[in-house]
Amino acid sequence: MKKLLLLAISLLTAIGSYAENYTISTPNNTLIIEATKGKAAKFRYYGTTASLEEAKALGKAMRYDAFHAFGHHAELPYAALVKFPDGDNAMDLVVDGVEQSKEGHITTLCITLKDTLHPFRLQLCYAAYDDCDVIKFSTKYINDGKKPVVLQRYMSASLPVLSKDCSLLSLHGENKNECNEIVEPLGFGTKILSSQEGNRTAFPTHSSFMLSLEGGMHENSGNVIAGTLAWIGNFTIEFVNAALPQRPTVIMAGINPSASDYTLDGGSSLKTPELILSYSNKGKGQASRTLHYWARHHHVLDGTKLREVLLNSWEGVRFDTTQANMESMATDIAALGGEMFVMDDGWFGDKYPRDNDKTSLGDWVVCRKKLPEGIGALVKMVHSKGIKFGIWIEPEMVNTKSELYEKHPEWVLRHPAIEPQTGRGGSQLLLDMTNPKVQDFVFGVVDKLMTEHPDIDYIKWDNNMSMLDASSQYLPMSRQSNLSVDFNLATIATLERIRAAHPKVIIQLCASGGTRLNYGFMPYFQEVWTSDMTDPLHRLKMQWGALDFYPSNILAAHVCSHNNKYTQRHTPLKFRFDVASMCRLGVEMVPATFTPAEREYAKRAIAEYKQIRPIVQQGDLYKLISPLEGSREYAALNYVNSDKSKAVVMIYRLLYTFGMPHRIVQLQGLDPERNYRIREVASEFENEKLAIEGKVISGRLLMEEGVVIPELTQRYKGNHPINELRESNDYRSVILELVAE
Ligand code: DGJ
Repeated sequence: MKKLLLLAISLLTAIGSYAENYTISTPNNTLIIEATKGKAAKFRYYGTTASLEEAKALGKAMRYDAFHAFGHHAELPYAALVKFPDGDNAMDLVVDGVEQSKEGHITTLCITLKDTLHPFRLQLCYAAYDDCDVIKFSTKYINDGKKPVVLQRYMSASLPVLSKDCSLLSLHGENKNECNEIVEPLGFGTKILSSQEGNRTAFPTHSSFMLSLEGGMHENSGNVIAGTLAWIGNFTIEFVNAALPQRPTVIMAGINPSASDYTLDGGSSLKTPELILSYSNKGKGQASRTLHYWARHHHVLDGTKLREVLLNSWEGVRFDTTQANMESMATDIAALGGEMFVMDDGWFGDKYPRDNDKTSLGDWVVCRKKLPEGIGALVKMVHSKGIKFGIWIEPEMVNTKSELYEKHPEWVLRHPAIEPQTGRGGSQLLLDMTNPKVQDFVFGVVDKLMTEHPDIDYIKWDNNMSMLDASSQYLPMSRQSNLSVDFNLATIATLERIRAAHPKVIIQLCASGGTRLNYGFMPYFQEVWTSDMTDPLHRLKMQWGALDFYPSNILAAHVCSHNNKYTQRHTPLKFRFDVASMCRLGVEMVPATFTPAEREYAKRAIAEYKQIRPIVQQGDLYKLISPLEGSREYAALNYVNSDKSKAVVMIYRLLYTFGMPHRIVQLQGLDPERNYRIREVASEFENEKLAIEGKVISGRLLMEEGVVIPELTQRYKGNHPINELRESNDYRSVILELVAE
């Protein structure tokens, strides 16, 4: 009997039945990790809901190190590299413990790995949502020793993928040219997406990706892993695809370790940023919708609230922020049906008035020369029009010509032995967030403003400079390479403090436009200024890219003047409104320049946007025709609300060629069993209806048969109803609202 028992135990050991597998699931995704005490943790499966047995049968199960550290088992590229006090770099990680917990919508699996060579641990955490297909990966580095260690590579996540034939989608850009979507085959070798700007994480590359596992990137088909690293500093996302059949493609994401050796004191730990992942077996469109839902419901501050239509003064008057200009714009936007007026740059500076970008940052007191009655009177005036009031600040910055810099030159980032490199205006510098006095100051900018004027409704928080000098006057020389991490952790701590004191005020994140677009910021901000590029043609493509990862309600999109300031392109008012209506609509021009007909139209367009706003800002997005693919003559999308009772279809013609064939657009996401009544939104032609106007058509027909894009040329023959200038046939658009009967 005893012999039999021993035989059974040795047999089980031999076939590995002692391995303990932990499954963590979302509604349609499964992640399986093997974690047996005393052994290396193994990554078994990540994909559509499946058991390990099913995954094995399909050939989709694997057994690679769940997190590989340098120095032992060099089967996969290493995600962790630590220099221990004796100079040793090798680690041997084995499972020390497993914890599972549930809180609200999230189930978390944490596997603690212990280094057998040093007093050091790693905690791998996987947090899965029960209402959307999102799993967040993060890692905690724990120094149990007495002496400091140096983290030389400290990724958040490592994920093996079996496919060797992948395509990669990523976003790239800079000021006025943000969110360029690039799709490329992931060849063999290593592909890196990274940023080293220090404090502007979406510049020049975003920390987001989609990886299709079958080659090609399709909107509605194929297995796609979407990922986005929520980190506001330097990052790296690496795709290592060795031309070896026995090795998987490995995705690693985390803080960029370049020039960032991180000294971790004995007895302390570093929790790395979260990599948010979603697995879609219905192409990239499904992955985007999942991220949008997750962002609105679980991550972005006030993500499920509807956002106001506002006018921002910047493009209209720039630094000419006078009482008269502010009053006239506020009066106009209120009369047009807008809901908020935002005073941009130029309102502050007492000793040095902010007349241009060369002075005053840091001196957050009203410029009496421009606004003699102060902020309080301005807020009151704006509120008296029945609309909200917003104000611009750039609290992390200082100009060399400012009272703040005169008092605290030691507060800026610079090397003590070199003249600091100035940014915008030849005089801008970045404050050193590692310095607790600077943290108090930045907190104080918002706190003082909100305490003195508690009725301010909105703040535009700008940031127009990268970390050009990566030296802290506060950190000791021995800790300079902690700067890029500690600087950004201090920024987050300051934002947390601001939000604890002022939870309600709407704060827009801006960084010369959208160069800080990152989920790391979004628990503290309600929205993002997508770009200073307001030309609708350029903007449409940018919004298309941004919408891959971010929901429409957080992307501010404003109507520019007829002749765009940056591209000199003339576009019809309707087209400008229709492009901005894809996201959170606003106006970025002086309404007093409208002709009477334009003014009437703007009023109608704003009123109509407010009607479709719940569907646009909270509905599911379906991209129908991409402006980035094929002939690039059209773009089309539709939004559908959660119970599929309402939808909005947006169709844009970007380029007209004579005799161009009629194009069909098949709608998506509707209920095939329901009938929808169709109405054109914000038409320019009150008496000339589209053939489809008022018709009731089944969701099935609209999706299967599709709609021929309405003839957008004939309507504009003869006198243009709004624009006095004769327009070309390019830049035409139509918005339709569908309501189920
Ligand atoms: C850069 C922003 O992107 C603009 O919208 C505007 O706020 C300016 N800064 C003001 O200086």
